Amino acid sequence: MTDPGRASHLEPSGASAVRERFADGRAAALALRPDQPVYCFRPTVLAADARSFLKAFPGKTAYAVKTNGEPMVLDVLARVGVNAFDVASPAEFAAARAAAPGAELLYMHPVKAQSDIRLALEQYGIRVMSLDHEDEVAKILRIVRGLDLDPHDLTLFVRIASKGDAAYELSKKFGAAPGHAAELLERIHDLGIRCGLCFHVGSQVEDALTYERAVALAAEVRDAARVPIAALDVGGGFPAPYAADPRRPAPPMPELDGIMARLMAAVERFGFADTPLVAEPGRVIVARAFSVIARVLLKKGQRLYINDGIWASLSDSWTGKIVLPVRHIPDPARHLRRTGRADQIAPFRIYGATCDSVDVLSRPFYLPETVDTGDWIEIGHIGAYSLSLRTHFNGFYPDTFVEVDAPFEAGEAPQGYAEPERRMGVDVEA
Ligand SMILES: Cc1ncc(COP(=O)(O)O)c(C=O)c1O
Repeated sequence: MTDPGRASHLEPSGASAVRERFADGRAAALALRPDQPVYCFRPTVLAADARSFLKAFPGKTAYAVKTNGEPMVLDVLARVGVNAFDVASPAEFAAARAAAPGAELLYMHPVKAQSDIRLALEQYGIRVMSLDHEDEVAKILRIVRGLDLDPHDLTLFVRIASKGDAAYELSKKFGAAPGHAAELLERIHDLGIRCGLCFHVGSQVEDALTYERAVALAAEVRDAARVPIAALDVGGGFPAPYAADPRRPAPPMPELDGIMARLMAAVERFGFADTPLVAEPGRVIVARAFSVIARVLLKKGQRLYINDGIWASLSDSWTGKIVLPVRHIPDPARHLRRTGRADQIAPFRIYGATCDSVDVLSRPFYLPETVDTGDWIEIGHIGAYSLSLRTHFNGFYPDTFVEVDAPFEAGEAPQGYAEPERRMGVDVEA
């Protein structure tokens, strides 16, 4: 008998892998009955989201490899025309080069090992880097001179510290204050190296004002430095869609086009209209491209112990600011216990697969009351900062992939949502 949700053939897609294909995550769960987490990769969704960003952003799009550097992802991006990659380590140089041999690599890590700078310049032909301190200029210069490179071929982006409202704030670690940034630009210019300005407003920024303020700050630095600016890099941070509580909807998330329109208006207003632009998006491109099918290993009251967790695919949720959409996939083979109503959702605290007691998600998942041991939960939109943050802790390492055609949100609506307790007015502490 053939399963209608299961493709009748195996199909290679990207990075020469052969993955079994399914219509959706539910079909995959029911056919495979997996006891280990299974990633559902959606190349069509990835291609569509990458194309949307390329269309919306009028400058150079350098995909941030750290967000998800799986070969299958880089391969799809290269095929849809992403021809620049933001890389931060030798492993990322190699991954991006393997997927897109002709693409430009931008080494946008502000603090780099000397040996990695040499590798970037000598072996990978990288000519764009970022920094936020004069010692980094000195490190780079030493190697440029040692390799007898022409400084004019190099562009060094000074990263300025910008603040804003993001799920992940990044300016506490990197970025120079405006006066310092202006001094760095002057120093770089005096060395005959081309100057760029960059910022990173943080990840999952849903407020366009954050970008506008960062552009204003960049203009302040440019005006103070009075050196030619070869490019303005507006970083990443563009938001991906996540879940909202179906019973108390939050204000709709701003569309990428709306944020981009405000950003571009600021670029124009602050005198960067003729400056080449760069962006380093990650999350907005890859978040929707993956879900993970996790199994409920045990139900203990309002606690669900699952076979994934913060040391595997779900660490991105630890800030507690990201609300992941979830879907319940009951195991048709199990005997139904009378544990509640299937049409009533309730908050469940989610405990991860490891023995570590911090391996518990900061937000509950809202699932039908009937969810039980042996069922599956498909957790959607986990493409960003999930696979790249997996660890081998406790010997668990999810690494099984299938390909899925339908977007996570297609078809039957997810039955429950991970959602802040305060919105629901319920205490879910177990
Ligand atoms: C330097 C840099 N560029 C780009 C990104 C990608 O950001 P996002 O995924 O929010 O678009 C990051 C994320 O931390 C980053 O550190």
